[in-house]
Amino acid sequence: MSIDVYATAGAIEKDLRNHACVIVDVLRASSVITTAIEHGCKSVIPVAEVEDAAMMARQLGGERVLLCGERQGLLIPGFNLSNSPLEYTQEAVSGRVLVMSTTNGTRAILRTGSCKAMFMGSFLNAKAVAEAALSQSDSIAIVCAGTGGRYSLDDILCSGAIISRIIDMTGKQALCDLSRTALALYDSYSEDLFTSLQGSQHFERLRSLGFEEDIRYCLQEDVMQAVPVCVNGVIRKLDRGA
Ligand code: MLT
Repeated sequence: MSIDVYATAGAIEKDLRNHACVIVDVLRASSVITTAIEHGCKSVIPVAEVEDAAMMARQLGGERVLLCGERQGLLIPGFNLSNSPLEYTQEAVSGRVLVMSTTNGTRAILRTGSCKAMFMGSFLNAKAVAEAALSQSDSIAIVCAGTGGRYSLDDILCSGAIISRIIDMTGKQALCDLSRTALALYDSYSEDLFTSLQGSQHFERLRSLGFEEDIRYCLQEDVMQAVPVCVNGVIRKLDRGA
C-alpha cells in the first residue's frame, strides 16, 4: 500500500486513475462540504467560477438550490451561503442542492482529474474518510487545496491526521516524503492544533477576517461520520451499504 500527499492539485505528477483520492481544504471548503453532507444536503456541485455557479443554479432552477462559497473569504454578492461551516446547519441545507465555488477548495476538486474514487476529507471526518479510501484502493493520494497555489500548513496537518488513522487501521505503509512530513508534523502538533497553526498564512488571514470560531470548528477531530464522495462532478454522501 502507498500513501502520497500532494501540497496542491498542481503538484500532481502522476496518473491517479487507480488511486483513491482524498481532497483536503481544512480552512474551509472540505470542512464545509463534510458539514453540509453530514447535515443532509442532497448534493454539492463544485464549480470554478462565480458566473458559472450562478448559471448552473439557474439551469437547475427552484428553491431547492443554494448558491454557496466565497471570494476573499467572504459571501459572494447574490449567493445564499458564505464559506462558514457554521451556516451549514441541518435547517439550512437538508434536502438542498448546493452549487459551490471557493477560491482554492472547489478548484482543487476540479483539477484533480480522473481517479478510482474521490472523497472530501477534513479533521471532522478524518477516520471515516480514511476507512472509505482504504475500502477503494491500496494506492491513496491525499490532495491538498493549499492557498493560492502554495502549501498550506492546515491542509498538511490534516493529511497527517488521515495518514495516522490509516496506519492505526493497517500498520506501517509506504509513505512519500511529504506524507512522512505530514505525519511527523501531525504527531508533534496534534495536542493543540489551534495553537500550532498560529502564524500560518491562511489561518491568520481567516482570523483577521473574524473567523476564529470557524477555525476552531474545523479543527475538531473525528466528530462526523459522513464521507462526501464525488462522482461525475457531483458530491454526495457515500453509501457505505453499497
Ligand atoms: C478556499 O476554497 O479557498 C477556502 O476554503 C477559503 C475560505 O474558506 O475562505
